[in-house]
Amino acid sequence: LALAYSAPESWIRFLAIDLVQVPLTALAIRGRDLLAEQRIDDQSPGKLAELARMLKINHVLMRVGHSAGELVARYRETFPEAVVSGRESIANGARRYAGTLIKGDGVWHQTGEITKIRSTRHVSYDIRHPRHAAFDLNEDTLATVIGNHGSFLVIDEEVNVLYGQQIRVYANERLGAPGQIVVKATERAKTLRHVNRICRAAVQSGLARRGYVVGVGGGITLDMAGLSASLLRRGVGYIRVPTTLVGLVDVSVGIKHGVNAFNSKNIIGSFYPPTCSVNDYSFLRTVSARTIASGAAEIVKMALVRDGRMLQDMERHAAELVCSRWQAPTDVAARIALRAELLMMEELAPNLFEEDLARVVDFGHTFSSTLETFSCYQISHGEAVALDMLLSIAIGVYKQISDPLLLDRVARLLDAFGLPLWSKYVPPPQVLLASLNGIIRQRGGSLNLVIPTVAGSTAYSQEVSLKELEFGMRAVQQLAAKAVERPIVVIRTSHESIGV
Ligand SMILES: NC(=O)c1ccc[n+]([C@@H]2O[C@H](COP(=O)([O-])OP(=O)(O)OC[C@H]3O[C@@H](n4cnc5c(N)ncnc54)[C@H](O)[C@@H]3O)[C@@H](O)[C@H]2O)c1
Repeated sequence: LALAYSAPESWIRFLAIDLVQVPLTALAIRGRDLLAEQRIDDQSPGKLAELARMLKINHVLMRVGHSAGELVARYRETFPEAVVSGRESIANGARRYAGTLIKGDGVWHQTGEITKIRSTRHVSYDIRHPRHAAFDLNEDTLATVIGNHGSFLVIDEEVNVLYGQQIRVYANERLGAPGQIVVKATERAKTLRHVNRICRAAVQSGLARRGYVVGVGGGITLDMAGLSASLLRRGVGYIRVPTTLVGLVDVSVGIKHGVNAFNSKNIIGSFYPPTCSVNDYSFLRTVSARTIASGAAEIVKMALVRDGRMLQDMERHAAELVCSRWQAPTDVAARIALRAELLMMEELAPNLFEEDLARVVDFGHTFSSTLETFSCYQISHGEAVALDMLLSIAIGVYKQISDPLLLDRVARLLDAFGLPLWSKYVPPPQVLLASLNGIIRQRGGSLNLVIPTVAGSTAYSQEVSLKELEFGMRAVQQLAAKAVERPIVVIRTSHESIGV
């Protein structure tokens, strides 16, 4: 029993009730090894419950003979658990039963040939919204998280031009003068070669096992920094400081990192939880309208799959949000961005490692990678998502899944954000159709094309025919032609400081 007391809680501990021979035995078992066994004489249910608590019993086993029905019923009131037959000894029954449970972490001898290791890793990370700018000397977030563990900064080239001086002052004064590298944020540069460069520089800077890679930039920089963090010393700490809208509302909340290779987007990558993301929306003041629009596409996606009211909010303020670089109207900009972050978190959290490959957040991400690669990345990620969303809804209209009014509505909204509704780089329908085979492989054998039925709710479709795709492409092209004819509205904002 001493062994039973000291055994790790994850081990399977049985209270075995033998109704055929010895009335009651307490035993602890690890895998197929019986560690402790003791006869217990006092069989009153109250005593049993107390004993089970004391020994941290997590399973009760009963050996029953033919005439034990009433007794079993009595014990089951206290312990509704497994029953072994009268022919099997309680110890053997316990071993066999333990092999089928495999609930806790540890090494389990399942059968003579298979020994299973089971280990569960707890995942938890924060999205933090600092009170000051992330690299303001008065802002403690980064300094507090990193402490004296050391860090290595991976900085987007454009961000370095605009904020490099401020970042270096902060790094010297608050982070112990860490090493750094500046990276080019283009899809062509988002490769293993550049990840290798980052890793080499981090090792040369002396980054230790408990140190942190800090990625500062848009989705491209964060993808490379995150992958590097997951590879360096088999995983060092990782902190994100997103500086684009895609980075803030999408990349920052997940655990995925990928680079392009073999003419495929994000084909090499890892799931690696960050320590935290420091989400400072003031970085958006300096991004281009095109980059804001790309982020808006990801937010429209979230609204379409989860929140119809958020779509209305965006429809009312799209032009001002772009012109102000998501700074005005202040309350609307914050409300929409934080809602998008939260909805994304809610979708990701129960399925962080994508065990379930039917995901509503994949709306807009079925044709998009082919649109990007086929255009040699002339179409940006967000633009490809926008085109994909239109195409998916148009296919949904043909299939009579989507509300036909939704297509026009979404096209107007994307147009208001300055997103192109069509592109000369869109490949022929046969190419798009063929690319779906790759998506099916990626999604474990099912297409899982997400199609909104109305704003805020979706359905999955498992096949797309050439006819449907051609119809969809024609419908979107017609919308794009209509959009060109619409008059341009000039919005004045009070954000002269950002030079809009
Ligand atoms: N890992 C994920 O979960 C995930 C999710 C979504 C998207 N992505 C990836 O993210 C990438 C797209 O990200 P993105 O839209 O942020 O693009 P990006 O990283 O290419 O940045 C866009 C442009 O903005 C510049 N920039 C960045 N911050 C700036 C700032 N504050 N001021 C001025 N210029 C700035 C960059 O230098 C770049 O030229 C794609 O490669 C996509 O695959 C990854």
